[in-house]
Amino acid sequence: MRPQVMKTRITELLGIRHPILCGGLGPGVSDGKYVAAVVNAGCMGFIVATSPADEDWLEHQIAMCRSLVGGKGFGVNMYISKLAGGADRMRKLIPLLADNGVTCVETAGASPDAILPALREAGIVVIHKVPAVRYAHTAARVGVDAVTVVGADCGGHPGTFLIGTMVQTAHAARDISLPLVVGGGIGTGSHIAAALAMGADAVVLGTRMMVSEELWVHPSYKEHIAQLDGTQSVVVKKLLRDHHRVLNNESARDVLALENAGSADFEDYRPHVVGALAHNAYSTGDLRQGMLDFGPAAVFANKVQSVEAIVDELIDEALAASQRLDKLRVVTSQNIVAAE
Ligand SMILES: Cc1cc2nc3c(=O)[nH]c(=O)nc-3n(C[C@H](O)[C@H](O)[C@H](O)COP(=O)(O)O)c2cc1C
Repeated sequence: MRPQVMKTRITELLGIRHPILCGGLGPGVSDGKYVAAVVNAGCMGFIVATSPADEDWLEHQIAMCRSLVGGKGFGVNMYISKLAGGADRMRKLIPLLADNGVTCVETAGASPDAILPALREAGIVVIHKVPAVRYAHTAARVGVDAVTVVGADCGGHPGTFLIGTMVQTAHAARDISLPLVVGGGIGTGSHIAAALAMGADAVVLGTRMMVSEELWVHPSYKEHIAQLDGTQSVVVKKLLRDHHRVLNNESARDVLALENAGSADFEDYRPHVVGALAHNAYSTGDLRQGMLDFGPAAVFANKVQSVEAIVDELIDEALAASQRLDKLRVVTSQNIVAAE
């Protein structure tokens, strides 16, 4: 495992070695074993709370993760549904987290304001993930500890504005004073160096990690991802205002056909988008059906590896990228001082 080479507000806040977060992966994909591998590789990971399974599943995953990380902190991802009762469902889980070593929560979806007091009382760090800088301002106002801004290239929910990660990173770094995580399309260490150079404190990865050995998803899914060049993602559900970047499979094409026919009725979409289809695809390796969150960073996920090997590679690449910048520099701070 690489030693710590970068210290940022996020590495300090979370007590982690590297400025890398591995975001929650649903439904039920980022489990205790995977998150423990992420944490043991010096990063922060998030067990996904919204799985098709029940609360017992989450309890079991938290216990397993805790047993594998040797006292290190780990996280849970809470997707807060905008539908009635969404925040209440998450609030009920907080005592379980507080009692079992969870130190950090990645919230996404609706504003976390309704569950923030309970998380604070439990001493849990809250990082709210948003798809545009304007929502990061709102999150800062409600009092989260840090924000994650993901751009249009992200696997999963890129929001309705679809502004790229390059623009959002510079924008967020300029306008947001909280510790900042950025994501969307990040798959190499050169991205990490660039994000930190632009003012971010860490990155979040999703698609790049889908080839991790420790993930339970079917080996043929990982092998398939490893062959793809990143052109296979498509944004669907735009008419529902619930933009979703997924693998372009049969279900995605069925959903696009509904959009092309002008339907904005969720009931038409339901048979194609239920989480059970995605869970089945990950279990069996048959990728034809289900909304399978997936982004163009797949082009960098070209072999199945352990989480630790992926992280080591990312850190080596980040250092190489920053050395490249050093080599390109023709005016050093010393010769500016000398010229003055
Ligand atoms: C398979 C998969 C499932 C995901 N599920 C969730 C989820 O349940 N909740 C969430 O907040 N983000 C989810 N995400 C988003 C990731 O946590 C992360 O923000 C995103 O993948 C970063 O963009 P990237 O895929 O370009 O690296 C998912 C991403 C992937 C690839």
